[in-house]
Amino acid sequence: MKPLAEVAVIGAGTMGAGIAQVTAMAGYPVRLFDVEQGILDRAMVHIQQNLSKGIERGKVSPEQQRLSLQCLHTTTDLATAADNAYLVIEAIPEVLEAKQQLLRQLDTLCPTDTLLCSNTSSIRIADLATVTARPENILGTHFFNPVHIMPLLEIIITKQTDPDALQRIQQFARAIGKESIVIQDFPGFATSRLGVCLGLEAIRMLEQGVASAKDIDKAMALGYGHPMGPLKLTDLVGLDVRLQIADYLNNSLTGTNFQAPELLRQMVKQGKLGKKSGQGFYHWE
Ligand code: NAI
Repeated sequence: MKPLAEVAVIGAGTMGAGIAQVTAMAGYPVRLFDVEQGILDRAMVHIQQNLSKGIERGKVSPEQQRLSLQCLHTTTDLATAADNAYLVIEAIPEVLEAKQQLLRQLDTLCPTDTLLCSNTSSIRIADLATVTARPENILGTHFFNPVHIMPLLEIIITKQTDPDALQRIQQFARAIGKESIVIQDFPGFATSRLGVCLGLEAIRMLEQGVASAKDIDKAMALGYGHPMGPLKLTDLVGLDVRLQIADYLNNSLTGTNFQAPELLRQMVKQGKLGKKSGQGFYHWE
């Protein structure tokens, strides 16, 4: 990657803030965009707190915190965010039409060699690439939550992806300290397809009374060595996010069972979205 290349991150929610943080920590100037300044201010507070926790734990130096914060700029003007960006990563909600609309805009605002990447957790990248005039420069860059801790970057390529674009993203992954894997463009890729499958089955088991949430999670944590059980992980990701992915995969993959359990739909309707709402399969303070 060119030295000091500008990176734009679109959407300053859970994932966008995290992606902006790790990118700035690697020294890239970052322009973080969202639709309201209040959201951007909250994201900056969150990033600052994360970096301070890093200092307490001896993982980040005060100088690193200062330099990272210096690299971060916020804006509510998409043209300012996109202007001359080397790389744009979108992390707006998991809604195909919204992502397509954003990519159409970015396609007209960014230089033709800017890589436009999506942090989608399930949507086929080709369905995003086709709305732009640069399908060869569109890739999936799927980060994991919390971004500053999870070491993986899942890169998704389509049949049209330029090998040079892939190389540029692999280089970016190394620069921000992530281990990358390259996945072909199937809905749900590798991680979400496997992770959501396990999560939905765990909810079905809870619904059927097979065991308590705690014991279902313990089964996978202690029996299979997973760092966290599938229900707790669903709480962390957000039940609404998981439901959107399940519905998308159910409609786009054949020969698999991604039908969302009724319990998941009910909990989302009741606002039990997991950690972010304080209540999911567990109670969160
Ligand atoms: P979020 O709801 O926390 O944040 C989304 C942000 O996008 C909000 O701040 C919202 O104001 C902003 N936004 C909405 N429409 C916009 C637009 N048109 N332009 C700019 N900003 C816009 O969502 P979250 O959880 O960060 O997810 C974002 C993406 O990352 C989704 O595609 C999701 O599937 C994916 N993802 C989520 C993970 C998670 O654990 N939450 C993990 C990996 C991927």
